[in-house]
Amino acid sequence: MVKLGHEVVGIDVDAAKIDLLSRGEATFFEPALPELLREAVQSGRLTFSTDPAAVRGSTVHFVSVGTPQKAGSYAADLTYVDAAVEGLLPHLAAGDIVVGKSTVPVGTAERLAAMIEPSGAILAWNPEFLREGFAVKDTISPDRLVYGLPEDPRESEKARTALDEVYAQALAAGTPLVATDYATAELVKVAANAFLATKISFINAMAEVSEAAGADVTQLADAIGYDARIGRRFLNAGAGFGGGCLPKDIRAFTARAEELGRGEALNFLKEVDAINLRRRDRVVQLVVEALGGSAFNKKVAVLGLAFKPDSDDIRDSPSLDVAVRLNGLGARVVATDPEAIANSQRMHPQLVFGTTDEALRDADAVVLVTEWDEYRTLDPVAAGQVVASRLVIDGRNCLDSEAWRDAGWKYVGLGRK
Ligand code: UDX
Repeated sequence: MVKLGHEVVGIDVDAAKIDLLSRGEATFFEPALPELLREAVQSGRLTFSTDPAAVRGSTVHFVSVGTPQKAGSYAADLTYVDAAVEGLLPHLAAGDIVVGKSTVPVGTAERLAAMIEPSGAILAWNPEFLREGFAVKDTISPDRLVYGLPEDPRESEKARTALDEVYAQALAAGTPLVATDYATAELVKVAANAFLATKISFINAMAEVSEAAGADVTQLADAIGYDARIGRRFLNAGAGFGGGCLPKDIRAFTARAEELGRGEALNFLKEVDAINLRRRDRVVQLVVEALGGSAFNKKVAVLGLAFKPDSDDIRDSPSLDVAVRLNGLGARVVATDPEAIANSQRMHPQLVFGTTDEALRDADAVVLVTEWDEYRTLDPVAAGQVVASRLVIDGRNCLDSEAWRDAGWKYVGLGRK
């Protein structure tokens, strides 16, 4: 937002986080963020505080807190959204715009609008579509903007004008804008994530069938992807989707549809979830099979822990899950990741972590589960010289199977020949 020309104060309840951010240090790994953050803090136009009163004087208030899955349920936990809005209430001035960014069950905005109404502030809903690993680029130049606006035409106009000012740069660059009501804006976000999750599970289902039929899912994806109506993106079969969004969003979406009496409309998302979770089992199964029926006491190099490359996020990560399961089967797992070791260690101190070299040395099997560039471009000849046995399970179907086989490796992909 500073880069877009605004003056910003960031509020959080976590004092340690605020401390680091105030010094211009990012609290997670995200390409291009450290430079941008440092520049913004140094400019004096970005400050941080744990005190909600620091929002005074701001006219636009983004609510961007997390909505994780509720413990023991599929529904979203709205505790943080509610707390953030309640924290804002005493500091809002009439005419201020509160902008919801968090991914919420449809109907939440209407409830929050009623909460803030007495303050004279106006609520807008402006879902966030950024991808981890591309967060800076997606924020500065989003592929679309969605405004969920209040019904009252005067309020709607005020909110729209404020948002247009916030996003002036993107709008001037021709970014498409959909201005709509609260419910549609809330639904756009979960519908987009549900579609992406469905696309991934679709190709993973094709991988399951390809495997049984002796077909190759990568070639299948290439071939159907040439149809512009289908498109090749998000058709990479492998260990499946994870992260802080897709898994919990499809679950929260089914929970909300059930509350709305339309559970059957989203029953297929339960299947999408089930297909996705089966992929992790399959990776582990393939490793065990390739090791001759047992992973016990075998050294296994697990390459990748983050849920996707260019991120240190391990929330619902298939890669970390595979490492933990193999470890649980008695394998001597050495797991590695360019950025996610510290987070993984905090959550699973029982795992052994190391560098790529340490993981590969004397390994009986190599399992690639997060397609970081440094793993995709591993030299199969050099790697072949340090392992005990040339066995690679490509959990992301991202290696050149021919090159690896030529270098003497037994190559196992998912739904791939
Ligand atoms: C997602 C949405 O893409 C983004 O628009 C939304 O704002 C937040 O959720 P993100 O969680 O950063 O973004 O990750 P994404 O790039 O969508 O990948 C999600 C998961 O799907 C990753 O685990 C990735 O490895 C997996 N994936 C992706 C596949 O298994 N196959 C694919 O073809 C693509």
